[in-house]
Amino acid sequence: MKIKSADFVMSNSNVMKAPKDRIPEYAFIGRSNVGKSSLINMLMARKDLAKISGKPGKTQLINHFNINKEWFLVDLPGYGYAQISKKKRTIFQFFIENYFKEREQLVCTFVLIDSRHDPQKIDLEFMQFLSKNQIPFCIVFTKADKLGSSKINTQIVAYKKKLLQYWETLPTSFLTSSATGLGRDEFLSFIDGINQDVAKDFK
Ligand code: GTP
Ligand code: MG
Repeated sequence: MKIKSADFVMSNSNVMKAPKDRIPEYAFIGRSNVGKSSLINMLMARKDLAKISGKPGKTQLINHFNINKEWFLVDLPGYGYAQISKKKRTIFQFFIENYFKEREQLVCTFVLIDSRHDPQKIDLEFMQFLSKNQIPFCIVFTKADKLGSSKINTQIVAYKKKLLQYWETLPTSFLTSSATGLGRDEFLSFIDGINQDVAKDFK
């Protein structure tokens, strides 16, 4: 897929106020600082489309971007960020959960996992939440440039083995690096394929 346009549409904390256009939507979620915003910029080949920060908790709202005037890409706040107040965390959780439950045009969610980390409870619980609500998702391993290729393979094999303790089949997964562009073509082709598959449902 060629990216012809990538336009920021709006930020908000209420899914009911999200754009109404009936086009397929893809959401990016994961722990705070996992590299969601960086991945979005890498995929879109734009430096500052999504806001990036070395400090966790940068993205705090539901951010809609319109891509090629054909689909929405959504940058969501990270979960599991310990530094925010309990009250704020509850509000976050509420609007993120609501987003997933209410957003009808959502066709696929990308759950980002730092490829250096072993499986974490919070990610596994989040994937279980998606499954329970019948929301299709893929796993995207990020920051691949931070590990050597043999270490990466060991990590990912171990991660998948752990997932098989909970699920009979593994979700589609991607290995990416926003620093090197690894995984970009494969990722965009995947979205292109889904867009074509669901086109008839969005007429
Ligand atoms: P929040 O919005 O705070 O939840 O974070 P986020 O998941 O959007 O992460 P963000 O893209 O802001 O990146 C967090 C930090 O990781 C930044 O310092 C990025 O430069 C760095 N980073 C992200 N992706 C990569 C990558 O593929 N490779 C390397 N080396 N660093 C990365
Ligand atoms: Mg972010």
